Amino acid sequence: MASTVTAERAWRGVFLGARNPALGEAAAAQLRAADGDVRFLELDVARADTLRAACAVIGAAGGRLDVLVNNAGIADPADGPPGKADIAAVRRVMEINFFGPLAVTQAMLALLRRSASGRIVNVSSGLGSLTFNSDPDFVFATTTVQPAASPARKVPIPGRPRVRRGCRAGF
Ligand SMILES: NC(=O)c1ccc[n+]([C@@H]2O[C@H](COP(=O)([O-])OP(=O)(O)OC[C@H]3O[C@@H](n4cnc5c(N)ncnc54)[C@H](OP(=O)(O)O)[C@@H]3O)[C@@H](O)[C@H]2O)c1
Repeated sequence: MASTVTAERAWRGVFLGARNPALGEAAAAQLRAADGDVRFLELDVARADTLRAACAVIGAAGGRLDVLVNNAGIADPADGPPGKADIAAVRRVMEINFFGPLAVTQAMLALLRRSASGRIVNVSSGLGSLTFNSDPDFVFATTTVQPAASPARKVPIPGRPRVRRGCRAGF
């Protein structure tokens, strides 16, 4: 999480958000030792109370946020392909990786709007790319090009049902 504040006597620097205060403070101290103007902020993306408190701290430090970096994310080994993913694991991952950034962004929106050039950076992966997912040759696609066939010919991977990833609802 980055905050640049320009009002007179306001602090100008970077807030490092982390759910574990000991680890977060240690990371911020390490960056300060390397000349970074970094302050630790307790922030658990799944806990609304920490989001409210974080907003209050940023507001008190100068009142605006120029860049919000949503980086927190988890992977759960019980998650996996739709045919065998553990539903509870999918819920855990969605809670942090989807609802987390949504909740943080909503909480920080007022501070971001006070910036003349507010930015939100969502750290994601290729699996979240609409471009990649629209490409049948993408490594996680359910169809692939058969090397010996004409380049335009896409064939299903045996044993995998075809899934249409994007479709227009018609309105
Ligand atoms: N590494 C890859 O190959 C890869 C690939 C594609 C996308 N990404 C994305 O890149 C981002 C960073 O991943 P990484 O590989 O650097 O993973 P990482 O080292 O595990 O970092 C993820 C961080 O998220 C924090 N976090 C987890 N739950 C949180 C919560 N409820 N509230 C606040 N913070 C929480 C973790 O904090 P704790 O230290 O407290 O656990 C950890 O510091 C993620 O969004 C991930 O989806 C990574």
